[in-house]
Amino acid sequence: MAEAEGVNQGNSAQVSIIIPTYNESRNIIGILKSIGENLPKNITAEAIVVDDNSPDLTGKIVEDYLKNVKKIAGYTMDIIHRTSKNGLSSAILSGIQRAKGDLIVVMDSDFSHPPHVIPKMLESLKKYQCDMVVASRYINGGKINGWTLKRKFMSKIATLIATKGLGVKTKDPMSGFFVFKKNILKGINFDAIGYKILLEILVKKSGIAVKEIPYTFENRNIGSSKLDSSTVTDYFKSVWKLYKFGKSKEPEERRNSVRFISKASRFYTVGLSGFGVNYLISLLFAGGISDLWYLHANLIGIGASITTNFLLNKTWTFGDRDFSKKRTLKQYGKFVTFSSLGALVQLGMVFYLVDSQNLSYPISLVLAVLTAAFGNYVFNKKYTFKEKVWG
Ligand code: GDD
Ligand code: MN
Repeated sequence: MAEAEGVNQGNSAQVSIIIPTYNESRNIIGILKSIGENLPKNITAEAIVVDDNSPDLTGKIVEDYLKNVKKIAGYTMDIIHRTSKNGLSSAILSGIQRAKGDLIVVMDSDFSHPPHVIPKMLESLKKYQCDMVVASRYINGGKINGWTLKRKFMSKIATLIATKGLGVKTKDPMSGFFVFKKNILKGINFDAIGYKILLEILVKKSGIAVKEIPYTFENRNIGSSKLDSSTVTDYFKSVWKLYKFGKSKEPEERRNSVRFISKASRFYTVGLSGFGVNYLISLLFAGGISDLWYLHANLIGIGASITTNFLLNKTWTFGDRDFSKKRTLKQYGKFVTFSSLGALVQLGMVFYLVDSQNLSYPISLVLAVLTAAFGNYVFNKKYTFKEKVWG
């Protein structure tokens, strides 16, 4: 149908504008009108409001409005009613599912994202032949008006986490204002947690071409932000998921020698850290925080360092995040056993080398320590953490 009307010809495409709302009764009609006034005339567009059963009756207000006005020029309007507040990201996805357009614009309904930027975004998409254009506050020319210092600070931190932690190149990955070709979403399996749908796309489709253009974010005049503490925890949840996603895409090292040695160096680094823990805890209990007999204090030090060694080796060296009680205790038991066995082997070997082989004590010591340390690594790798020794 759209083709019959000639919309996909020449420089025009069909654009779907997704506008999620929650308690925006005093903004939504105004923003719908403003979008209509600002859209370039040569495009065919539809607006899709996605309302989550707002208690202030945003949904009904839009519904009533649409009874009279379904269409302004080439611009049609529609609304999706969801039954409850299910989050911004998932609202946007619901809208996209309904969208007929091959270009998708995502924007807020509270005038923070000025509609006059939309034509510029669409032009840039064509001009730079990219897959996505992000309206950005954090490039030259971009700005934020009306935010408290605290909110600005939080936004900066969140942005830093995304760029440094997840390796995202876009300067404003937290933007809620962007346009993209719908087909880039193919193959993405969305978590859609919280607010950050853009970030999820950027991480999961890191290959797409993204252009940023500056704009001024205007804090809303009417109503209040829906961002709360759960939005913040949601953010950390989604960053963690995206981080793991990135890791799972990294090519795994295939050379056994490299894997063997890289784990060995982690194992021995942990061992070194154990010396530090042992030393500090032993001192601490023999005078620092309590006045134990120095041998008892040392016993506590040894116990503490075996425990930290175990935990670090489990999580870091061998990347084992399964902390179920039975499994962890079993592993811990084996780890303690091998550590003690290592000490005994070392003792026995020194005695044997010095006494029956007439080697010097320093040389015997080096040989015994190396043997015990090597055995420790290999046995823990194989029996405690159930990995192949070589690899
Ligand atoms: N349907 C639905 N469901 N809509 C929601 C929900 C929800 O659970 N939560 C928020 N919205 C709608 C709001 O009604 C508004 O239109 C838009 O999503 C943004 O919500 P705000 O509460 O106004 O967010 P903000 O102004 O604090 O943050 C905005 O700007 C940030 C900086 O660009 C959002 O766009 C953020 O995504 C963005 O990071
Ligand atoms: Mn807002």
